[in-house]
Amino acid sequence: MTLPVTPDFAPIAPAALAAAEGRLVLVLTPDGRLGAAARRLDRVAKGAIARALAAKAWEKLKPGEAMDLAFPAGLAAEALQLVKLPARASATEARKAGAAIGRALGEAGAMVLAQGQRRPADIAFGLALRAYDFRRYLTGEAKPKGPVTIMVDDPEAARAAFASCGAVAEGVCFTRDLVNEPANVLTTSEFAARLVEMRTLGLKVEVLEEADLEKLGMRALLGVGQGSESPSKVVVMEWPGGKKGEAPFAFVGKGVCFDTGGISIKPAAGMEEMTMDMGGAGVVAGLMRTLALRKAKANVVGLVGLVENMPDGRAQRPGDIVASMKGDTIEIINTDAEGRLVLADVLWYAQDRFGPKGMIDLATLTGAIVIALGHEHAGVFSNDDTLAAAVLKAAGAESEGAWRMPMGPAYDELIKSRLADMKNTGGRPGGSITAAQFLRRFVKDETPWCHIDIAGVTLQSKDTTLAPKGATGWGVMTLDRLVRDMLEG
Ligand code: BES
Ligand code: MN
Ligand code: ZN
Repeated sequence: MTLPVTPDFAPIAPAALAAAEGRLVLVLTPDGRLGAAARRLDRVAKGAIARALAAKAWEKLKPGEAMDLAFPAGLAAEALQLVKLPARASATEARKAGAAIGRALGEAGAMVLAQGQRRPADIAFGLALRAYDFRRYLTGEAKPKGPVTIMVDDPEAARAAFASCGAVAEGVCFTRDLVNEPANVLTTSEFAARLVEMRTLGLKVEVLEEADLEKLGMRALLGVGQGSESPSKVVVMEWPGGKKGEAPFAFVGKGVCFDTGGISIKPAAGMEEMTMDMGGAGVVAGLMRTLALRKAKANVVGLVGLVENMPDGRAQRPGDIVASMKGDTIEIINTDAEGRLVLADVLWYAQDRFGPKGMIDLATLTGAIVIALGHEHAGVFSNDDTLAAAVLKAAGAESEGAWRMPMGPAYDELIKSRLADMKNTGGRPGGSITAAQFLRRFVKDETPWCHIDIAGVTLQSKDTTLAPKGATGWGVMTLDRLVRDMLEG
């Protein structure tokens, strides 16, 4: 799996611009000043570019926005796109500009002039991410996007900068593909197989099968999957890029390949969206891919719990009591609160085996977080203010929405059970918080830990700046930045 398009960088060649077929794109500063190459192009186009830049439409554009000129006379291109971007643009603005190019990209490809721009790699990054689409199952429509060449002042420098941000884009697209796949294709076995394939990138990948999980005592996780024909699995990915012997940082993902709710079955309307309930595992997978591709100088482990939550004669029932790997017992009140059961065992296993210096889990855990924060912010829960602040800072820098949520003993009261050490639901009020409190019971006090509820941000029903509607890959960019700042810095 690679990027939908990998932009190439080239020196500025005016003749090639006039002869370019496909889309022709000029990235220009807000004053509309034309460099030598653009001026030459404007002459070939009989002044059409300068006239367009003098129009109100150009003035109204914000940084990163674009306008299209249909049928550019004198030029070979099928369309001319003018993109507004200050020379000292922020990374976010440059990505947005790239996204405007990527959104419009077709099979004929594009030639982009980005003379005088200081962030060509960010332009390419936004372009690659927004050119993404998931058309695997649209028969006859699988036309690949054409090639993109970005003409810049210093192609070598741009190429070097894109080497690392291209790895991030590839991780994001890997996550999106996993999340967009239907559940009849992306079974637990297929998911594991796609992770095993990443061994070729230098990742150590290990698959724990049901018998292994049974031996480890992961009855909380196994209970969730016992009604499914797909075998439950835990996949462990290790990236040993840091100092030998230094404790790794751990990322843990909820990988419910499909969530019917189990015996506490969900209503039919919208249930098809539960193919995305492996989104947390998808982010961990995409992040590990990125770290391997850019050879991150850090020790990182990624663990995912892969299960399917189905109703069946063997399925778990409300009222069942299961023992977790940690040893704590759990009364199942609602079989639809399955993610926390999966995470409980994987979180414990991650600490037991790796003694990580910190741990972050990602999960499409609760509908309640969507009620609280909508689709704009992921919910961040933590036992450690320093780690939480670092996560929020990284998310802010990457323009991925994240918001800290409270925790506390009063919420923990709500998951006390008459029959077992705890129950798996705490009622409707504060549903995301009681879910986080549940997870916290499986985190050692000495482990700095953060839980990110991504139920609202994993899938979008509208296009966003960097993604078409569908899977967003939320979190790969943030966590890659976190690894850079916190572990590699
Ligand atoms: N996978 C769902 C949460 C979810 C909801 C993800 C909407 C994405 C969009 C989770 O397993 C679930 O069903 N949670 C229940 C918990 C409840 C039974 C305590 C919920 O949120 O309703
Ligand atoms: Mn559920
Ligand atoms: Zn779920």
